[in-house]
Amino acid sequence: MSDSAVTAVQRAEPLSRATIARVDSSDQLGDVLALPEHLRDALWRVESAIMQDWDTPAGLVVAGMGGSAIGGALARAALGDHASRPIFVTRAYGLPPWTTPETMVLCASYSGNTEETLACYESAGALGAKRTVVTTGGRLAEMARADGVPVIPLPGGFQPRAAVAYMTVAALEVAALCGAGPRLTSEIDVTASHTEQLVAEWGPDAPEDSLAKEVARGLLGTAPVIAGAGLTTPIAYRWKSQINENAKLPSFAHELPELDHNEIAGWQGARDVGRFSAVFLDDSDAHPRVKARMDLTERLIVANAAASFRLETRGQTTIERVISLVLLGDLVSIYLAALRGVDPGPVPAIEELKDALTQQ
Ligand code: F6R
Repeated sequence: MSDSAVTAVQRAEPLSRATIARVDSSDQLGDVLALPEHLRDALWRVESAIMQDWDTPAGLVVAGMGGSAIGGALARAALGDHASRPIFVTRAYGLPPWTTPETMVLCASYSGNTEETLACYESAGALGAKRTVVTTGGRLAEMARADGVPVIPLPGGFQPRAAVAYMTVAALEVAALCGAGPRLTSEIDVTASHTEQLVAEWGPDAPEDSLAKEVARGLLGTAPVIAGAGLTTPIAYRWKSQINENAKLPSFAHELPELDHNEIAGWQGARDVGRFSAVFLDDSDAHPRVKARMDLTERLIVANAAASFRLETRGQTTIERVISLVLLGDLVSIYLAALRGVDPGPVPAIEELKDALTQQ
């Protein structure tokens, strides 16, 4: 996008509830601001759906796509060094070849009709793996009920990506139930309160120079390139996906240290082909060499970037820190949509693709 395509008026637009509501036909903003309630409600839903513990020594596979897969990736990041068994996220038509009857497969699909996830559900059954389902309904819920597979029921009416807190908590709780990680129930409850404070700090009622609004204005008119590392790697992917789906913009995500071995070289030509901005997602507990790399990488690419931001997780526990930057990214993507005058809710390109595939 050329700089002239973003007017000064657009950038100066106040990011109030009223201006966002003008484009946000399905109140995606409201769903993001409700993240703390979603965390609490998710705990309750998992607890009422699942009674027994299953010990699955081969670990946990979370099978899902898009907004339903990200919860598994965020849960794995939040468990970090406390994961005692492999936790693997598959976004594909199949399960990893090492899946056995000693593996728990959590099939996550908000709609319950995503064909890749349905294929994984069936493969898990054929392999004799233990299964759990998290969904609002659809074919997945029907099959699970017929097979006697536990279903964690989700509330309807969201865009799948807005159910991120539900999907993350489901993956964390199932990881604990199958012995892949510790129980984080009380940490999740504390995270809900911590997130409430951040909602006040970064939400639409906060001043116009508050962090989320400032970042959204800085990214306007650019293709954001997001960098994570360790804990923040799946958060970088969440930012990219939310910018794609809410703001309807190209955006890309990569991770450190790997990007220092390839992507960093590409920044040299960034200004020849467009306006790219850089966002570095840092964490207080990141490896010191990764922090050093983040400093140096930003310094080396900044002249070729239309804007650059270094943002850090907030909070004590890993789950608080993960959710903090998920919230910030979700808000930034909604604000970007509002500044661009696009409705963040509908994703016609995704729907069109899914419809076209059903004809094949
Ligand atoms: C839409 C979204 C998508 C979906 C994906 C899978 O809001 O985020 O990425 O999550 O197409 O669909 P579900 O979640 O229904 O399995």
